[in-house]
Amino acid sequence: MKIAIFNGSPRTENTAAMVDAFAEGARAAGHEVEILHVGRMKINGCLGCEYCHTKGEGKCIQQDDLEKIMPAYLESDMIVFASPVYYFSATAQLQAAIQRVYCIGKPQKATKAALLLSSASPDTGKSAVVMFENMLGFMGIENVGVCALHGDENKSEAKLAEIRDFAKSL
Ligand SMILES: Cc1cc2nc3c(=O)[nH]c(=O)nc-3n(C[C@H](O)[C@H](O)[C@H](O)COP(=O)(O)O)c2cc1C
Repeated sequence: MKIAIFNGSPRTENTAAMVDAFAEGARAAGHEVEILHVGRMKINGCLGCEYCHTKGEGKCIQQDDLEKIMPAYLESDMIVFASPVYYFSATAQLQAAIQRVYCIGKPQKATKAALLLSSASPDTGKSAVVMFENMLGFMGIENVGVCALHGDENKSEAKLAEIRDFAKSL
């Protein structure tokens, strides 16, 4: 499978460790993995101008780093969304990367998706999980799993090994 991981963290700490563990497990199982650091890209919010659905033939009028992630939306069999919890939600960077898929409606090929969430406190990512589940329902993509780590779990080799094993099992 071709797997794209959209990492919404601007940092290279807790979420990045989860992303790396997932990528390692998936690669060990023979999958092709691409990590897209959307948290460090410049992706604006959708303007809602409908250019994409009128004159643009599926292309967005804004020229920014969306171009770097669009091939992954079009070609991946699985998309993994990863983010730290920022104020009970995914980061603004990841939200923008998700909402800009509006120009093509939904990922073209993906049939599976997973969510990796890192937070300081337990259960603060609940609304991000609900958003993710609703979005996948709308897109007709199967949710194959949600991994959420908080506090000290973020540095736990045992928890990262669980993520590695989860990715290996795909
Ligand atoms: C702007 C901001 C908002 C945050 N909001 C929350 C929150 O609502 N709930 C929570 O448990 N942690 C919150 N945190 C803590 C991060 O989710 C946590 O430290 C996470 O492990 C950081 O991941 P990272 O190392 O990939 O950046 C917030 C951190 C920042 C910088």
